[in-house]
Amino acid sequence: MPSVNVNNHSIIRVIWDITSKCNLNCKHCYAATLQNEEELSFDEIHKVISNLSTYGVENLYFFGGEPLIRKDIFNIIEYCTECNINTFLSTNGLLFKDSLYELEKSGLKGVGISIESTYPHKYKQIRGLDAFNFVETAIESLSNSSIEHRALNCVIMEYNLDEMLDFIKMFEKYNLTSLNFDLIANGGNALENQTLCKQVSPNALLNELDKVFEYLFKNKHLIDKISFDILPPKALTYFSTKYNLDIKLSKVIHFNPYSCFYIDLKGRAYGCRALTDYFNYKECKEHIRGISLIDNSLENILQSDEFYNQYCLLGPKKIESGICKDCEYLYKECYPCPITSNDNISYDCSDYPKSLICEEILKL
Ligand SMILES: C[S@@+](CC[C@H](N)C(=O)[O-])C[C@H]1O[C@@H](n2cnc3c(N)ncnc32)[C@H](O)[C@@H]1O
Ligand code: SF4
Ligand code: SF4
Repeated sequence: MPSVNVNNHSIIRVIWDITSKCNLNCKHCYAATLQNEEELSFDEIHKVISNLSTYGVENLYFFGGEPLIRKDIFNIIEYCTECNINTFLSTNGLLFKDSLYELEKSGLKGVGISIESTYPHKYKQIRGLDAFNFVETAIESLSNSSIEHRALNCVIMEYNLDEMLDFIKMFEKYNLTSLNFDLIANGGNALENQTLCKQVSPNALLNELDKVFEYLFKNKHLIDKISFDILPPKALTYFSTKYNLDIKLSKVIHFNPYSCFYIDLKGRAYGCRALTDYFNYKECKEHIRGISLIDNSLENILQSDEFYNQYCLLGPKKIESGICKDCEYLYKECYPCPITSNDNISYDCSDYPKSLICEEILKL
């Protein structure tokens, strides 16, 4: 077993699927297959929030389903604000303008609006609704709002890989505070819509990112605003050295369950979203069970062997024997994905096929 240091981290981010309901059924959505699953009551949600607050969790991100569909979402956010927890939510933007007044009042710290294309017809293909212009207006409202953190969330797949620079330009146009790129994961609807939602090859991603970093070299003020959690530290170091950029390594990169964990619809803690029922991994189904935050204190969960084993039980073979073994970032900034699955790229350095960029990265 690798010697993961469980005591050396503070919880930076907790992501919580607060509802299963949604007003869309996006082609790429990992969560859409569990729509209309029973969700927690307001009282149970209170218990979980108190639990997080007692441990000192500072940042809580509401996902779903669509969080703005929950009628009591404003009360939930208000309770978090009372407990000194900063709240953020990711939304498809459809209900955003109508909710903005209540959201501003509730003490919400941040909103990310999700968008997978800057072209209306491509947006419609992924999100299933001809709503690009409507969502762009929501982005404009967010931009003019008093909400402190105003983000654009973009999931990258083969379909929109060539739009990374367009997303950056859209982000600049609306003067938002952060741009979060994520990579498509093979779960839920994404598995059934493989032609549209194909994962990008690590090689193609690195080539596209070369263009992005070239742009950032000329627009250095943007660097701190764009999240590069999609890259393992070695790849980020390669680009920061090549373009002489000061890019900070994220502490929550790549499955570090002790700085960023995930709560499912039933209030159960998992080290990562990929371990849940959404992602049908055989190894996870056999070995992994979420741990209830209604019945167990977060402190006990984080110290439990069961939680530790969520990372270690899967036997991260490539971590113990592969190129990560002697890496200076291992178990500090980088927790390579322990799920070895043929149908999913984890985008660790070990996934990089041979190319000029990859060879340079692997030499680091
Ligand atoms: C599941 S949604 C829930 C919140 C809200 N309904 C929204 O669309 O932002 C949260 C984020 O996950 C992203 N997402 C959905 N399916 C994904 C997948 N298969 N892989 C990676 N991200 C995904 C969405 O694009 C969105 O940015
Ligand atoms: S990505 Fe968001 S809006 Fe789309 S189906 Fe999933 S939860 Fe709903
Ligand atoms: S070699 Fe492994 S531990 Fe090092 S940065 Fe790459 S994925 Fe992370």
